[in-house]
Amino acid sequence: MTRTQYLAPAELELFGSETFWSSGSSTRAETFQQLRDSAPICFMEEPIIPDFGQGPGFWSLSRHSDVMEVSRHPEIFCSGLGTNIPDLPIEIAEFMGSMINMDSPRHTRLRMIVNRAFTPKRVALIDRDVRVKARQIVASISELGECDAVEQLAAQLPLQIICEMMGIPQEDWHRVFELTNVILGAGDPEFTPSMEALMSAVMELAMLAQRVGEDRLANPTDDLVSAMMHAEVDGEHLQPMEMASFFILLSAAGNETTRNAISHGLHLLTQHEDQRQVWQTGLGEVTPTAIEEIVRWSTPVVHFRRTATCDTQISGVKIAKGEKVALWYESANRDDRVFDKPFEFDVLRKPNEHVGFGAGGPHFCLGANLARREIGVIFEELFQWLPDIRISSEPEYLQSAFIHGIKRMRCEFTPAEVPALDLDD
Ligand code: HEM
Repeated sequence: MTRTQYLAPAELELFGSETFWSSGSSTRAETFQQLRDSAPICFMEEPIIPDFGQGPGFWSLSRHSDVMEVSRHPEIFCSGLGTNIPDLPIEIAEFMGSMINMDSPRHTRLRMIVNRAFTPKRVALIDRDVRVKARQIVASISELGECDAVEQLAAQLPLQIICEMMGIPQEDWHRVFELTNVILGAGDPEFTPSMEALMSAVMELAMLAQRVGEDRLANPTDDLVSAMMHAEVDGEHLQPMEMASFFILLSAAGNETTRNAISHGLHLLTQHEDQRQVWQTGLGEVTPTAIEEIVRWSTPVVHFRRTATCDTQISGVKIAKGEKVALWYESANRDDRVFDKPFEFDVLRKPNEHVGFGAGGPHFCLGANLARREIGVIFEELFQWLPDIRISSEPEYLQSAFIHGIKRMRCEFTPAEVPALDLDD
């Protein structure tokens, strides 16, 4: 009864057209605006997934306040039955998503193990590594005058940092890049042609991580993987398989998201010359607000899903136990009930209550501070060494309702010689 009362208007069905999710921001922005204004909570049809068919449908939440409300009530809206709209068998969802697809107490236990491994000393080392690697990456393209802004620039810092944190040997880093493209490209036939391709990428990544985990169990070093494998919570350790799942989550979550924030940031600064001037001239002071605005504007993670654990209500709309709820972060981040002039890109925006890293609650992005640091440092290095860098081709967007991704996009700049960073600086 409730569902039929709240069916999404046909023209606002988000999975109605094949090109909707690769159409770039403006078409999507208009549709989400209409949803927020006329159907903020409505029931939608699911996409048809080859080999899986079509699921039972889901509730679409497009307003900031509703996304916040659901995120902060994990006891009513759980993650353990999956966090993407299509249903996967629970074991597969857990294997691929680790803690993001779990509820308390298992979620809390895993999160504590990881938190325990992030000691202040280790965080300081990672911070330093971000600066050194960002300089190396900028130096590696600086004499070319032009390059692919995604693969050669934006993708490199998050990829290298995650791989190094997780002890992946350098010769495997490019393979990790290719595999996470397949995993998070699900929905885009160019990256993920079939379910078999997806599963085989997941397995290959898991094997890679499991090997490292087993090695650190037997031969501890002072790296993060060793710390995680040996950390103890309530007398329990992380098992090598849990470590593999966690690595799949980290490499997907920490890699593609930050990469896309950097790619979108470069595109935005090319489109908004005035904002680039503000940032470039005010560097240190502007960087914190500019980072938040890039994440708000680009919203690299378009949605996550929850499932109702009981009959309940959201803003007066009845939701039945077992029904799925999609939290459209992309829409919440343009909600004019919260943001002043939400369609303006403003590197000085304050306050900026965006939900790009989630909307609070126990699953709030574990890597938010690392991502902020990576985005800030790469732009500071670019402004210093390649100050006229600009995007020189139209972005090619990923076809995905999950990741707001740019697959390819050229950039150009005046060639420069970039010195290596003196480690004693
Ligand atoms: C701009 C970059 C990033 C964005 C936009 C982003 C976004 C998100 C979002 C929306 C969530 C879910 C929040 C929720 O359900 O409440 C999340 C969770 C998570 N993120 Fe990020 N993320 C980014 C970078 C990173 C990085 C660099 C890492 C790791 C080093 C990371 C690791 C994680 C993990 C492990 C979770 C799951 C946390 C849990 O379930 O407790 N993320 N992220």
